[in-house]
Amino acid sequence: MDSSRKSHAIVAVVLLGLLCLTVVDCRPCHQQLQDALDFPALNCRKHSAVLTDFGGVGDGKTSNTKVFNDAIAKLSEKAKDGGAQLIVPPGKWLTGSFNLTSHFTLFIHRDAVILASQDESEWPVLPPLPSYGEGSAGRYGSLIYGANLTDVVITGNNGTINGQGEPWWKKFKDGKMEYTRPCLIEIVFSDQIQLSNLTLINSPSWNVHPTYSRNIIIQDITILAPFDSENTDGINPDSCTNTLIQDSFIVSSDDCVAVKSGIDQYGIRFNMPTQHLLIRRLTCISPRSAGIALGSEMSGGIKDYVFWITGDYGSHPNPGWDPKALPEIKGINYRDMVAENVTYSARLDGIENDPFTAICISNVTISLTEKPKEVQWNCTDVAGVTSRVTPPACSALPASEKEIDCPFPEDKLPIEEVKLKTCSLAN
Ligand SMILES: *[C@@H]1O[C@H](CO)[C@@H](O)[C@H](O)[C@H]1NC(C)=O
Ligand SMILES: *[C@@H]1O[C@H](CO)[C@@H](O)[C@H](O)[C@H]1NC(C)=O
Ligand SMILES: *[C@@H]1O[C@H](CO)[C@@H](O)[C@H](O)[C@H]1NC(C)=O
Ligand SMILES: *[C@@H]1O[C@H](CO)[C@@H](O)[C@H](O)[C@H]1NC(C)=O
Ligand SMILES: *[C@@H]1O[C@H](CO)[C@@H](O)[C@H](O)[C@H]1NC(C)=O
Ligand SMILES: *[C@@H]1O[C@H](CO)[C@@H](O)[C@H](O)[C@H]1NC(C)=O
Ligand SMILES: *[C@@H]1O[C@H](CO)[C@@H](O)[C@H](O)[C@H]1NC(C)=O
Repeated sequence: MDSSRKSHAIVAVVLLGLLCLTVVDCRPCHQQLQDALDFPALNCRKHSAVLTDFGGVGDGKTSNTKVFNDAIAKLSEKAKDGGAQLIVPPGKWLTGSFNLTSHFTLFIHRDAVILASQDESEWPVLPPLPSYGEGSAGRYGSLIYGANLTDVVITGNNGTINGQGEPWWKKFKDGKMEYTRPCLIEIVFSDQIQLSNLTLINSPSWNVHPTYSRNIIIQDITILAPFDSENTDGINPDSCTNTLIQDSFIVSSDDCVAVKSGIDQYGIRFNMPTQHLLIRRLTCISPRSAGIALGSEMSGGIKDYVFWITGDYGSHPNPGWDPKALPEIKGINYRDMVAENVTYSARLDGIENDPFTAICISNVTISLTEKPKEVQWNCTDVAGVTSRVTPPACSALPASEKEIDCPFPEDKLPIEEVKLKTCSLAN
């Protein structure tokens, strides 16, 4: 009797001790999170946890791959009960690839850096995407990966995701990659995705790759990659519907935004176009590539175009692509753009016997470098109209007699109508 009472007392003391410890431990991080209490998101979550609750160590050296995966697996249990958010607090959180879950928010504090591991064993190899086919042996899962999800938010108050991409760029340059390099964030077969208020730096390859997904908002993102990095595209919406990309700043060695729909026969067989895409208020610095590229896996070369549209996929992963399987590309409007220090304004190539039509470009001012190309607009198999464009466009895109503003669809895209809610970190 006595001894059992004693053990109860001991249990109570230990429990109290743990509670105190928890409170003491968390006070600094909660204080630091105070100034980041409100943020806009598709949905707010009922449950909230901090990475350190799951044993995360933010010293920049300890791997947190298991911590992230375990934390998110645990929080996925809340999906049907109002969802959960995971807060990445100040610190340097080294991790390999981890998977997201539905009805989930990952919030990265402005003094937090998610550091991508440079240890390849921390990156699982996934099969190729169906619209890319057997052209590659496989691909590394992205640092932050999501598949078959609904309602996912990755946000912060300008927290950082650092891909530490140097070894991947080097290995790629040396032709030593067995599998396709990982992206920083890849989300496939998903619905309702938000990426906002983040800084992404030094991605091993593309930064953001939403694929076979719909209802996507990407805004207030800063993407930085050195000019000599390899294919560090900014945002590549791929076979996606209803996507809004806005208010972002991208410095890249490659395209800032590249719109894709798979490759050749795989892309055609998969038959999932990118549609209803709105890109606005994008600042792009890309000395080697395009601001916004419509096209696919074209092999290398110095590009440096403001506009680059290509129907000619310069490289084909496998023989057997069907040159007669032509996409219908029309109704692409650009307006109100300013570009500086440009060597080559536009390379617009439609497809022979399948011109890209109804292109409209208005109010675009392109200032050229000291040594620009002689021919600024190089167009084949395209048709459309321009207005107030300097330098003047090619004859396939004549200036309209009357000044016009290229219409943006009067009826808004459904994604523009989405109202973000004001969510809070305190729960
Ligand atoms: C993450 O998802 C991929 C693809 O579905 C899977 O291969 C991998 O095992 C998952 N990782 C974890 C830790 O669950
Ligand atoms: C995700 O959805 C796709 C398309 O519906 C399906 O082919 C695939 O098997 C699903 N993957 C998982 C891991 O459920
Ligand atoms: C997100 O970025 C926008 C634009 O810079 C800013 O107005 C807003 O306050 C930011 N939100 C958070 C939570 O930091
Ligand atoms: C976010 O951080 C990046 C990198 O430090 C910086 O360039 C950018 O201006 C910041 N954005 C905001 C809205 O504070
Ligand atoms: C032309 O584009 C510039 C730069 O985006 C913008 O500031 C200006 O308002 C536009 N002019 C008109 C008439 O829309
Ligand atoms: C213009 O671009 C060239 C490279 O093409 C670069 O050397 C130069 O610094 C740039 N100038 C400005 C003002 O950005
Ligand atoms: C237009 O682009 C094609 C393909 O790069 C090139 O072969 C051709 O010489 C270019 N034309 C001019 C006039 O620059």
